[in-house]
Amino acid sequence: MSTEESVAAHYSRGNVEDALLGMIKAAGGNPDSFAPADLRGADQLHIGGAAATTRVATRAGINAGSHVVDLGSGTGGVARHLAHDFGATVHGVDLTPQFVTAARSLTERTGLSNLATFSQGSILSLPFGDNSFDVALMVHVGMNIQDKDRVFAEAARVVRPGGIMAVYDVMLMGGEVEQYPLPWAATPATSFVQPPLAYSDALAQAGFEVDQEVKPLAEGIEFLEKAISSGGPVGVDSSALKNLIAAFRSGLLAPVEIYSHLP
Ligand SMILES: C[S@@+](CC[C@H](N)C(=O)[O-])C[C@H]1O[C@@H](n2cnc3c(N)ncnc32)[C@H](O)[C@@H]1O
Repeated sequence: MSTEESVAAHYSRGNVEDALLGMIKAAGGNPDSFAPADLRGADQLHIGGAAATTRVATRAGINAGSHVVDLGSGTGGVARHLAHDFGATVHGVDLTPQFVTAARSLTERTGLSNLATFSQGSILSLPFGDNSFDVALMVHVGMNIQDKDRVFAEAARVVRPGGIMAVYDVMLMGGEVEQYPLPWAATPATSFVQPPLAYSDALAQAGFEVDQEVKPLAEGIEFLEKAISSGGPVGVDSSALKNLIAAFRSGLLAPVEIYSHLP
């Protein structure tokens, strides 16, 4: 199995769409027509959920005129949030076929298919022409990708001159990760956490100029602790969340946002 096949297999456990629609039904909603916020962030597979997406989108300057490519779009929660709350046009690309199917179906049910669309594929080879987007966003995906140079080179190709690249990943602060599972990988074979400096070097290599780096560590720990006490996000087991909190507390890993632009 290739690394990408192993990554997709990791995210393919259980039927995530049924689980999310089940949440809508359990809350007395209509599973065929609901607002993105009715999923209460369960469709946003990153630390901080919807609030973090608002924070990152605001820092990335996303607005109603923005054309955004969401690199590793999961079940489409980030794209729907950007479409609904910011009025942006978003195209998501994701490796995991089950997630792409869920993303399209959930987006249809929220009436946002005119603004948020999805393709199945690898972000190492994007199916878009040059200068197609104002902003590229990558949220909690780089931990699964060894070749960050290639991701950022592809992003630099599809983003227009003056456009933005915003990354929000879990990054390595020092030492070596030994405790698995983590939410993005059951074993070290598909985990490629790297320090912020490796990201900024790869961004610079691709032609981006780094503007800002933010480390929302305390908010991250608080979010994960609440997630554990409420049963955790769909498809993520609590031992992975506990290992992540321990790695945050020991200074091994941290959530980091990096904002950059093309000259
Ligand atoms: C933790 S989820 C984050 C999903 C989404 N960004 C969010 O915040 O809700 C990581 C996602 O990255 C995707 N992914 C990992 N490697 C990828 C690659 N090479 N190309 C495209 N997607 C990838 C996985 O399929 C998974 O959906």
